[in-house]
Amino acid sequence: MRTLVTGATGFIGSLLVERLLDGAQQEGKEPARVFCLVRRAISGTWLENVPVELVHGDLFADATLIPVLSEVSHVIHLAGVTKARTEAEYFHSNGETTRHFLRLCARHAPNLQKFVYISSIAAAGPSPDGRLVTEDEPPRPMSIYGRSKLAGELACQEWRGKLPITIIRPPVVYGPRDKDVYQYFKQVKMGLRLRLGRHERKVSMIHVHDLVAGILLVSEHPRAVGETYFMTNPHPYDWHELGQAVATAMQRKTLSIAVPEAVAPMLAAVSELGAKITNKPALLNFDKVAEMRQYYWVCSGEKARQQLGFVPALSIQAGLQNTYQWYREKGWL
Ligand SMILES: NC(=O)c1ccc[n+]([C@@H]2O[C@H](COP(=O)([O-])OP(=O)(O)OC[C@H]3O[C@@H](n4cnc5c(N)ncnc54)[C@H](OP(=O)(O)O)[C@@H]3O)[C@@H](O)[C@H]2O)c1
Repeated sequence: MRTLVTGATGFIGSLLVERLLDGAQQEGKEPARVFCLVRRAISGTWLENVPVELVHGDLFADATLIPVLSEVSHVIHLAGVTKARTEAEYFHSNGETTRHFLRLCARHAPNLQKFVYISSIAAAGPSPDGRLVTEDEPPRPMSIYGRSKLAGELACQEWRGKLPITIIRPPVVYGPRDKDVYQYFKQVKMGLRLRLGRHERKVSMIHVHDLVAGILLVSEHPRAVGETYFMTNPHPYDWHELGQAVATAMQRKTLSIAVPEAVAPMLAAVSELGAKITNKPALLNFDKVAEMRQYYWVCSGEKARQQLGFVPALSIQAGLQNTYQWYREKGWL
């Protein structure tokens, strides 16, 4: 297998790359060749000292991408932004890059067996009433991020007849190396469990190790060509239960505090102001707050189970335990 991975310096991409390299070794197969598109020096990133072949540039670096595309059998496209400063930046990084990259693959990757695009539940949108959203429903993204990921999906659909494409829509991904759900672990360490408002809020989640296993399954499975899949733990979690599960994993006593919904936009305003000063995307912006105010980010993993036999190995409790242990070992908590 000769795989080009975009977004390999990131949370999910870096673990995927390691699994690609380990998997071939464990199964006694010929060593996997893994090409990683990187747009900056890799020292200090998860890719440092990992035996991959670096392809320098971004998704518009045609001159460096074309020779690699002529060699690869698989492309896993994770590069994208989950936080950006402007709407234009979201659409550029998630939509236009994907459209351009697909065009390059169609023209210059004659041996391509699979192109996997990592989209997001945000492209499908939240559930209006708590019912698990399925792949056959029309997308209803409500955030700029969601619409920009949907733009990436629409670009994939344009090439579906010509390229062997599969789209994966993960919900919240957590696990070692993640810095988002990590913020919640930090709160619990301080003895707090903050939740937005008093309304029930549910969320689907998947541990990064399970998602990586799902990406690899999709990349080899002929049935997956032309399909879109949610990949998730079967049961969504209520924020309250989730907080308790994190507290249990960390063996912490916590106080649950409901933050009034009206406070969230104010926090976003402060965070966006700080981001303007530092010229970096805000951790909490108005778009993220709009997403957080939805009650049900829940999806069904049934299609992936039935068509591909994909079943996550880790329960939420085991996944949170594994994540907590990693944060502790690395001194993050
Ligand atoms: N994490 C989640 O909970 C979650 C959930 C659903 C979907 N997803 C999707 O999964 C993918 C990976 O997420 P992640 O959490 O691993 O993100 P991450 O840690 O922020 O990593 C993003 C990666 O994309 C690269 N990248 C961004 N823009 C690029 C561009 N224009 N050209 C080349 N590379 C670019 C980054 O490179 P640099 O190192 O150079 O910045 C980095 O390697 C994203 O597409 C995201 O939308 C994530």
